[in-house]
Amino acid sequence: MSERIIIFDTTLRDGEQSPGASMNLEEKIQVARQLERMNVDVIEAGFAIASEGDFEAVRAVAGIVKKASVASLCRASKRDIDRAWEALKEAKKPRIHTFIATSDIHVKRKLQKTHDQVRQAAVDAVRHAAGYTDNVEFSAEDAARSDVNYLCEVIQAVIEAGAKTVNIPDTVGYAIPDEFGNLIATIRDRVPNIDQAVMSVHCHNDLGLAVANSLAAVQAGARQVECTINGIGERAGNASLEETVMAIRTRQDHLKVHTDIRTEEIYRASRLVSGITGILVQQNKAVVGANAFAHEAGIHQDGMLKDKSTYEIMTPESVGIKESSLVLGKHSGRHAFRNRLEEMGIELTDDQVQTAFVAFKNLADKKKTVYDEDIEAIIAEEILRLPDKFKLVSANFTSGTGVVPSATVEVEVDGKVKTKAEFGDGPVDAVFRAIKKICKSRAKLLRFTVSAITGGADAMGGVTVRIKENGYTIIGQGAASDIVVASARALINALNKLEYRKRTQETAEAEKPSL
Ligand code: KIV
Ligand code: ZN
Repeated sequence: MSERIIIFDTTLRDGEQSPGASMNLEEKIQVARQLERMNVDVIEAGFAIASEGDFEAVRAVAGIVKKASVASLCRASKRDIDRAWEALKEAKKPRIHTFIATSDIHVKRKLQKTHDQVRQAAVDAVRHAAGYTDNVEFSAEDAARSDVNYLCEVIQAVIEAGAKTVNIPDTVGYAIPDEFGNLIATIRDRVPNIDQAVMSVHCHNDLGLAVANSLAAVQAGARQVECTINGIGERAGNASLEETVMAIRTRQDHLKVHTDIRTEEIYRASRLVSGITGILVQQNKAVVGANAFAHEAGIHQDGMLKDKSTYEIMTPESVGIKESSLVLGKHSGRHAFRNRLEEMGIELTDDQVQTAFVAFKNLADKKKTVYDEDIEAIIAEEILRLPDKFKLVSANFTSGTGVVPSATVEVEVDGKVKTKAEFGDGPVDAVFRAIKKICKSRAKLLRFTVSAITGGADAMGGVTVRIKENGYTIIGQGAASDIVVASARALINALNKLEYRKRTQETAEAEKPSL
């Protein structure tokens, strides 16, 4: 039997650090539920001390996850560790993940400490964490650029102090696969107590090598890989879960290891994370991109018709991609709707089902056929929204040839309905001007993207906006059968997220460690 690779997902922590990718509590819970369906081994739910919002997210995820370990990141300090434990203590399998940087540049320039001080801080942190749980992970930040002798000393010391997982991050995505594999092999050979801990890797993608480096590390003995859905994360992102897992599955013959991931859940996880964060998946992205299983060249199509394995090394079904299935129409009742939600793995309360059902009926009146993707959009629109400060009540607009586009918009602000009328360069511009006046927002629109959620002229339109205000970059999304209404919803969603961000960002940004 081949050895198992532990899949540690950090979408909710490192992934959430992508510019604009912040998620609210309800969204994080939905992602955690999907990760659990997928059978991920460890879910890093946040960085508890970073903000009130992170703390609540870790606590909430710890409360709902049943099988996976739930981890919170913390710096190598007692205060951070205590806060992480406070958030994690109700989890079935809590994991404290503490870290400190070990590379010369980080030790001297960022931490302004000596190497001895850093080693001592690491040992003290692990000992303190081990007083709460024996499930302690230690990360040597910027390990890939650290002096290998010093790195080995630190790893040996933290294992003696009680670390059960030692993580070797390539924090800045600098390593080359054979070099990184050699580093892992050196640690395996030189650290005398390495057999008492699991070796883990955490690779960033600055040179596009995060997955390759992770696999090289697996070949050298690493048994945990840290990754994110769609590879989202700081800068160019992290190793992508779907690529790592499918490489291991597809090339088991060569790698001789396996994971316990239910790969059929990968595509849904990818869509969910992309839908929530607004970070679109590139068309040609491996495994989950729109073209990942599309065969265009005639010669390929001919081969595929004769035998799929001529050009397909894995099947779309193995990652959960199927033809859009026709699900429901306007005559479908609440029972059928609820059944479909269950089949799609969407867990809602009775009240939430009722809210979603009303939205489904409205859509089914306008559209002949309602697909899974439409239902996902309804859930994102009606259920995953924040406890909103701003609510769109109505948007009416005129545009066309020979008229100056104008809009009249009503928005409920803290329960009071306010109205504004504005002109604009087009109907979306007029609607945005009116919303910004009502919400007293000076946000700058950085990006505006429209896409059809399903095919056909009656498709639901999805709009993603990226806005910036007071140094915060926020992504908002909206869906509706009318593109202008979808745009209004997207802007309102972004403004609500901005409010939430301001409310929950209690710890000053400056206090956050840069990872
Ligand atoms: O990239 C990094 O080094 C990290 C660690 C804190 C694990 O995210
Ligand atoms: Zn990282």
